[in-house]
Amino acid sequence: MLANHTKLLYVDNAQLSFIDSLQTLISDHNLPIVLIPELIEGKLKQRLVQLNTAAEQAALILDNKHKLSLVSGGLSVAPEWDKLQRRVVSAGRKSELILQAAKISADSQVLDATAGFGHDSLILASTGAQVLMLEQQPLMALLLLAEQQRMSQQPNWQKLMARLTIINCDALSYFAHLPNNFDEAKRAVNVVYLDPMFPADSYQDSKTGKGAKVGKQMQALHQLAEPPTLAEEQQLLQSAQALVSQSSKKQGRVVVKRPQQAPFLANKAPDESWHNAAVRFDGYFI
Ligand SMILES: C[S@@+](CC[C@H](N)C(=O)[O-])C[C@H]1O[C@@H](n2cnc3c(N)ncnc32)[C@H](O)[C@@H]1O
Repeated sequence: MLANHTKLLYVDNAQLSFIDSLQTLISDHNLPIVLIPELIEGKLKQRLVQLNTAAEQAALILDNKHKLSLVSGGLSVAPEWDKLQRRVVSAGRKSELILQAAKISADSQVLDATAGFGHDSLILASTGAQVLMLEQQPLMALLLLAEQQRMSQQPNWQKLMARLTIINCDALSYFAHLPNNFDEAKRAVNVVYLDPMFPADSYQDSKTGKGAKVGKQMQALHQLAEPPTLAEEQQLLQSAQALVSQSSKKQGRVVVKRPQQAPFLANKAPDESWHNAAVRFDGYFI
């Protein structure tokens, strides 16, 4: 894959060692990214305005608290896992619809095939399950890896962080290469979780029927990632079902997240759905 040249704006020379650690993540994980560090002497905001005006491709920003953010479509976004602390600590089937749908336990192996900002992965891993996270966008994968490294420095997050494995790859090619590349143990997956992109205008509030406000993070993602075609949706769902049925000795399932009003993935009706006003989780049981 061709490497993407990506500007990394930073505000202080003391950050150079942190930039080195990002370079190490990039080479250790074979990410097709070439960082172009740029020290911002003046106001970071001014430089961002310039970047947006010039409609340059996505860039990264490193702030003075070592938080790495992505600038895309005029928005600056970061995984900010620390903001999920409360949810992660109290997550259970009562409070989290995703856990009702996924029905996992501490010995489960979960594959989150569309990791995004990793928020759903965190909730899934809060149960004690191991979560393998696939993310096709190299910059998103780098954000996730950097966030995992940052949060691993906090003692109360270490166990959770150790249960996450992040891989930069396309889920469809991961599924296609599984039989050759992975041994039985690595293929043992009880739950595959899918949250692919959908058209930006398909978010609708089920109560008002009006377009629901899309969060800043999703807006930024829409600049980077396309919704799958119907054929890709079919392939995603079929491959996910095949993986769970091959590898799961106990019962397994595929769980798909959709906006509440959106059609089923690949137009295939699930066995059961769980929903609130905004989102729906469709469960396909194996
Ligand atoms: C809607 S977001 C997922 C949000 C995520 N559930 C969260 O909690 O932050 C979809 C993400 O999946 C990634 N993605 C979409 N299709 C993919 C594929 N075939 N393989 C791997 N990643 C994919 C996109 O790049 C995007 O980051």
